[in-house]
Amino acid sequence: MIRLHLPTIAAVCALAALPLSAAADELDPTGAWSAYSGGQAPLPPMGWNSWNAFYHDVDEEKVIASAQVIVDSGLADAGYRYINIDDGWWLKRDADTGRMVIRTATFPSAATGSDRTSFRPLTDRLHAMGLKAGIYSDIGRNSCGQTFGHGNANNPAGTLAEREVGLYDHIDQDIALYFGEWGFDYIKVDGCGIRGMGADNPNVQKGIYREMAPLIDFDSIAKTDVPAVKDLFAQVGQALVRHNPDGDFLYSLCIWGSANVRSWAKEYGNISRTSEDIAPYWGRMLHNLDSASRRALYAQPGNWNDPDMLFVGTGDFDSDHPAEARSHFSLWAMLNAPLIIGYDLRKATPEQLAILGNRDLIALNQDPAGNQAVLAYDTEDVQFFVKMLADGTKAVALFNRTATPMPVTLTADHLKYAADGQVALTDLWSGEASSFTGEQAFTLAPHETRVFRAAGTRALPGGMYLSEMPGRINVAEEGIDFPEPDPMIHRAIVPWQNTRSNGERPRYTGWGGARADSTPYGQMLRIADREFLTGIGVLANSRLEVRGDGFRRFSAMVGRDDSGSDDGSRVRFEVYGDGKLLGASEWMGLAEPAKPLSVDTGGAAIVELVVRGDGKATRPVPVTWGDAALLP
Ligand code: GAL
Repeated sequence: MIRLHLPTIAAVCALAALPLSAAADELDPTGAWSAYSGGQAPLPPMGWNSWNAFYHDVDEEKVIASAQVIVDSGLADAGYRYINIDDGWWLKRDADTGRMVIRTATFPSAATGSDRTSFRPLTDRLHAMGLKAGIYSDIGRNSCGQTFGHGNANNPAGTLAEREVGLYDHIDQDIALYFGEWGFDYIKVDGCGIRGMGADNPNVQKGIYREMAPLIDFDSIAKTDVPAVKDLFAQVGQALVRHNPDGDFLYSLCIWGSANVRSWAKEYGNISRTSEDIAPYWGRMLHNLDSASRRALYAQPGNWNDPDMLFVGTGDFDSDHPAEARSHFSLWAMLNAPLIIGYDLRKATPEQLAILGNRDLIALNQDPAGNQAVLAYDTEDVQFFVKMLADGTKAVALFNRTATPMPVTLTADHLKYAADGQVALTDLWSGEASSFTGEQAFTLAPHETRVFRAAGTRALPGGMYLSEMPGRINVAEEGIDFPEPDPMIHRAIVPWQNTRSNGERPRYTGWGGARADSTPYGQMLRIADREFLTGIGVLANSRLEVRGDGFRRFSAMVGRDDSGSDDGSRVRFEVYGDGKLLGASEWMGLAEPAKPLSVDTGGAAIVELVVRGDGKATRPVPVTWGDAALLP
């Protein structure tokens, strides 16, 4: 067992002299939690948004009507709170003052008799109903409707300058207006204006909109200016802090998984879209699900993966498809996705309201531990998701992705429960209770998701595997030098193109990111032929911040993962507690047996797990923190 305690200056200097990779500075411990802590998202937001229900055809009556159903049906009591207006509300930007003008033909209460329109009456009304209010903007000069030529009737009007309704060059002014004066509590910031207003946009060519060299190239990360995109989103974040002295805001990023945002959004805002738009088709729901489902380590209280809004109520999730509607809702609940309803609630049936209002499912999504479910079984046909809850019990979702019945077996191993102990299950859709020891067979109906609350004998009594607590882990450095598209995402017909293309291609970067119970590229964790059912898989040159309070020891079996290539490079594992080196491994090459690395953390609030490469690697080097756990 290696138990090094090297807190002395000499030891730290010796460490610094070792050959390190270019990322050395970022690997230095900070003793701090560096993920976003602004705004109000200790739990995933819940609410309603106009887009999936009405697209650009949004108006005040529709917004208030859905808000009223949310209150009257009990959904507000169940936690749905934010009422968000999406694209289509704006008329123009006042040419003299730059102040945004609301389309009063559709939002009559905003009329004041002049161009100094105000959403204050609407936000006051929503607040008086016990709700919160959300607004929508774009980080570029123009909206999505303008950029992609849809939503013509409600696109902004006036001169070219008046039609520039986006935040670009107006961040402080607009955020002051929306939050300080109009009283909004939430903003969704879209990115069409920095994606599609290049010289090739037909409306730019016609002189209707000003050209803006795209910062985002959806098909090429190399042609995307990631620092510039980050900088714009950071500016909005700073303005939100300035104009919300009480901190009561929620910041939603919407650049659809582009610009490598799946890796950095957690430092910039509260929720961030992991993919392009959801649509009311089964295949598209799978696409959006997959964009977030392997990224459990990239969500924690304060910032959440956003696979887009719910489509319960429409198309493949309408009242003729209750199994699909329940699956969509169950999966979003398990993933800690924002639960934002996208349906004209005036049309909702009692059965649909019952799905959206299932308190047991909502409780999983709103569980204070904030652990996004981790994949315990993963195929194209069936997936099992397991989520550790704050009270020590677990939730498990058994998901049939296919249109045929699927016989499946849930084992105690999937739940990290002892094989000889009894596991008690409560079905959260039927309420039925059952139990099993060892394993239990089920047959999943087509597209069905069975969701259970599970209680059993923990395989690691007293301690907690790191892969059971993704909500307490922040991937501060993931060791990826060249972001690549994630190939594991279901590719479906893109509804707005149909088959007028060569198909859906992998496009969302984030491939190779840190994973719970898996290597970064999806293999089983394995060091020198020894398999680890649990652990954290990450690349060398990485630094993970782990909330260590409540525990006194960290232990793991560490080594280069067998899935890496034999490039002769070596890695070193280091564990820090509140910024101080507590222990480290030797430098380890491929196929060297796993080494134990166990340290006394002394209850450190932040335990940092660093893996340094020796700078000789020619390819990304997967490394494994096997059986990594915090112990009492
Ligand atoms: C898209 C966004 C949608 C919706 C739409 C409005 O970019 O992903 O959720 O906001 O713009 O035009």
